[in-house]
Amino acid sequence: MSLAEAPSYTPEIAAATAPAYERVRTVIPEIEWPFHAPYVDAINRLKVERNAVILAHNYQTPEIFHCVADIVGDSLALARRAVDAEADVIVLAGVHFMAETAKLLNPEKTVLIPDLRAGCSLAESITGADVRLLRERYPGVPVVTYVNTSAEVKAESDICCTSGNAVKVVESLGVDRVIFLPDEYLAKHVATRTDVEIIAWQGHCEVHERFTGEEIESYRQGVDGLVVIAHPECPPDVLAAADFVGSTAQMIAHVREKRPPKVLMVTECSMSDNVAAEVRDVEFVRPCNLCPHMKRITLANIHESLLTLRPTVEIDPAVADRARGAVERMLAVG
Ligand code: 13P
Ligand code: SF4
Repeated sequence: MSLAEAPSYTPEIAAATAPAYERVRTVIPEIEWPFHAPYVDAINRLKVERNAVILAHNYQTPEIFHCVADIVGDSLALARRAVDAEADVIVLAGVHFMAETAKLLNPEKTVLIPDLRAGCSLAESITGADVRLLRERYPGVPVVTYVNTSAEVKAESDICCTSGNAVKVVESLGVDRVIFLPDEYLAKHVATRTDVEIIAWQGHCEVHERFTGEEIESYRQGVDGLVVIAHPECPPDVLAAADFVGSTAQMIAHVREKRPPKVLMVTECSMSDNVAAEVRDVEFVRPCNLCPHMKRITLANIHESLLTLRPTVEIDPAVADRARGAVERMLAVG
C-alpha cells in the first residue's frame, strides 16, 4: 500500500504544470492531466528538496519522460550521464539493471528504483554460474555482456556493451572470437556487422521477440511510404524487414534527423508516444508491445520513493568492483 497520499489538483497546480502539459498535449488527453499534474508538481518540488535527479529510459511513459525526468536516453546514455550526476540522490525510472549500473558508477550515492520488481527477461535468462561454465567450455575467449544483465553476471564478464555500441565493443578487443551474452538476436545482429566470430546465448527480450517479419510486411502493405526502424533485440526476420536498426537513442535520432512522413518504430510502445510528443510532423504507426517491467514505474511510486528515499539499490560488495570494471571498460571504448 502507498504511504504517500495522492496530492490533489488545484488551480495553482494547473498553472504551475501548464508548461509540462504543453509538452505532452498531443499524447495525453486533457481529461487525464488532473491525475498526473499533482504528482508532476510534487515530484519537481521534492527533487529540489532532496537534491535528486531522475534518469528516465526512453520507454517510460510521457508524463514521466517529458514532465519529471532530468536526463533521458538509452542504456548507454543513462550509464554515461550517471557518471556525471552531481546530485545526492539518483532516481532511476527504468528497470533494475539500469539502476544497478547507476549504483555501480555512484557507489556513494543513494540510488532509488521506485519498484524493485522492475526486472528484464534478458537479465533473468542468465546467471554468474552460467558465465563461469561458458568460460570453461571456451577457455580464453573473452566475454562481452549486454548491460541488460545483473551485476553478478557483469562481474563474470570482461566488458559490457549496449545495443548502441555492441559492434564497437566487440571489435575493440582485437580477437577472432567472443562470447556474447545474453541476447541471441542482438548477437546475431552484431555478427552481421563484424568479422569477429560470435558465440551467442539464447536469452530473448519478451517484448521484442513478439514482433514478426510477417507483421512488419503487413504494415508496409497497409501504409504507403512507411519507414520501418527496429531495435536489435527483435528477431532476425524483423531486422531484415527494417529500413534502419539501432538502439532506442539511435532510433529517435533517426526520426529527428530524417523526418520520415510515416514511421513504424518496432520497439516498446511508449517510445513512439515520447517521440510523437516532440516530433509533431511525423505520423507514427504504433504496433503496441508494452514492457511490463518498465511500466511498473509510475508517477505515484516515483513520488513515494522521493518521499521515503526507498527502495534503494544495493549491490553485494563481493561483486560490485568486478562488475564496475566491466562497465567502465565499456565506457572507455565509447
Ligand atoms: P537501449 O539501450 O537501446 O535503450 O535498450 C534497452 C532496452 O532494454 C531495450 O529493450
Ligand atoms: Fe528487458 Fe525487453 Fe523490457 Fe528492455 S523491453 S527492459 S530488454 S524485457
